[in-house]
Amino acid sequence: MCGIFGYVGKRNDGQKLVFNGLKSLEYRGYDSWGVGVIPEKKNTIVVKKKTGKIGNANVNDLPGGSLSFGHTRWATHGGVTDQNAHPHLDCNGEIAVIHNGIFENYEGIKQKLLKKGHKFVSETDTETLTHLLEDISKKEPFTEAVRTAFNQMEGLNAVIAVSTKENLLVAARNGSPLVIGFGKNENFLASDASALLPYTKEVYFLEDNEMAILASDKVTILNVKTARKIIPDRRKLDWRVEQGGKGKYEFYMLKEIFEQPQIIADIASLGASQAKEMAKIIREARGTYLVGCGTASYACLAGSYLFSKLAKRHVNFAIGSEFGYSLDFLNKDSLVIAISQSGETMDILESVKKAKNRDAKILSLVNVPGSSLYRLSDHKMLIMAGQEKAVASTKAFTGMVAHLVLLANSLNGGVRKGQKSLMQAVGSMKHVLSPGSLKKIDKLAGLIVGKKHVYVIGRGLSYPASLETALKIKEISYIHAEGLAAGELKHGPLALIEKGTPCISFLPNDETYGANLAGAMEMRARGGFIIGISHKPHEIFDYYINVPDAGESTIIPEVVVAQLLAYYLTMRKGLDPDKPRNLAKSVTVK
Ligand code: M6R
Repeated sequence: MCGIFGYVGKRNDGQKLVFNGLKSLEYRGYDSWGVGVIPEKKNTIVVKKKTGKIGNANVNDLPGGSLSFGHTRWATHGGVTDQNAHPHLDCNGEIAVIHNGIFENYEGIKQKLLKKGHKFVSETDTETLTHLLEDISKKEPFTEAVRTAFNQMEGLNAVIAVSTKENLLVAARNGSPLVIGFGKNENFLASDASALLPYTKEVYFLEDNEMAILASDKVTILNVKTARKIIPDRRKLDWRVEQGGKGKYEFYMLKEIFEQPQIIADIASLGASQAKEMAKIIREARGTYLVGCGTASYACLAGSYLFSKLAKRHVNFAIGSEFGYSLDFLNKDSLVIAISQSGETMDILESVKKAKNRDAKILSLVNVPGSSLYRLSDHKMLIMAGQEKAVASTKAFTGMVAHLVLLANSLNGGVRKGQKSLMQAVGSMKHVLSPGSLKKIDKLAGLIVGKKHVYVIGRGLSYPASLETALKIKEISYIHAEGLAAGELKHGPLALIEKGTPCISFLPNDETYGANLAGAMEMRARGGFIIGISHKPHEIFDYYINVPDAGESTIIPEVVVAQLLAYYLTMRKGLDPDKPRNLAKSVTVK
């Protein structure tokens, strides 16, 4: 959460470069944005910061400078106001800080600084760091002061600090990501390597407890605790800059939804050998755990059904934020399969680190190569879905499930069967994405957009599909939606169904069909408006969406229907599906 971009170098319009960098990081947080610049030969820091999305804003009113830094904020401490936006300045406007994370022990330090006479103008934890730096740098050189101050900070943080006295960007990281980009007589810092691609492909991913001192012609890396110098292991990124932006689509989410048939077809053909390789590792493990957050957790849950059904293997499933509290039994023979689009989700990273401390092996399935999770894993698989920009995850989810289909099939020697079923899913998705089907889903959105609650039921693999459907609907259309195992209805939730309540029911062509139908009937008997998502119509459906059968991969096209329904609901409410309120793409706080 929060995007950080910094520049020091030969250009005298660093503020424009930083502003453009922020645009590509805005998915990380869009409560506010801010850019700071030290103008040439002037002993001052000029800052422009504003609440809201960057939109059509510009930094034409900022002076030019060769040292600049910027931030997009996802608010933690302090409301969404201009004052709380980063960068934050010290009392004299000579030190500035931008920050990603939570400075957990800031209150005690702030009280001491207040007693010393420091003037605070925001409600943020970050501002404490600027005044702390002001205080320490009276006695220590600025770079050393950053190290001292960072060592006093508790929590998971990434910071960039600058002073008018030095032409340097000083950064430190513990937890939140920071990547250094090496240029010719210029150097960069960003919280995501993809933002650096237009400028350089030579990078170093700062590790926890490392700090970096960037001048235009030199980068020094130190251990933040010991000040020992570290020779950075530079990497050359072989990523390409994503071309074309949104293309013909109004929003990234829709573009990403439509990319899915091609992505799944690519995974079916390119992912098989990797799946066979990884199946060996799973076979050797004694105890396998699938761990993810949000949408990725539903892919993990789907994985547990796939492994059971196809590979006759018990794998445990856990939510990333909870796994850390229930892993005391892990040992060197355990395998944790950590699934994450970004590879930066703090809840996953924290629990995976705990698992590593118990000597468990980590196999990650991530979309972002070079991400923190990718780097700390023993075995790595890439989702290969291409950069996902919309906050609501779509193609990463179906990509995760596709790899799990291949893995589960590989475990019983049937990778070809997995490939075949994925290709069936591709055909089924194409049907869901055809003009007639889109029209039907949009019409359905029109019928339920005014409702306050939506209930979604499924069994077996359609249970994670139900959870994912509810998450998609609530996160972008802000309509309350609840996903349920159909069997649970009668244990309580049925009490909520009344005349006209939209009840989405997944009825794939598998062993769950009959029991799911019974659930739909129970809801209908209470007046529910039954939306059947199935390979065939049924008289009890008030509305029917056709999803052609794709065997065990049917969950993939089922979820595409859910993505489209959520998207059309959002359109009808005039909301932005790419940047829903209160959320961010990469969740790097606990
Ligand atoms: O990057 P990750 O896959 O680890 O992200 C996990 C969740 O934060 C993410 O799936 C979130 O739930 C999405 N907004 C769902 O659309």
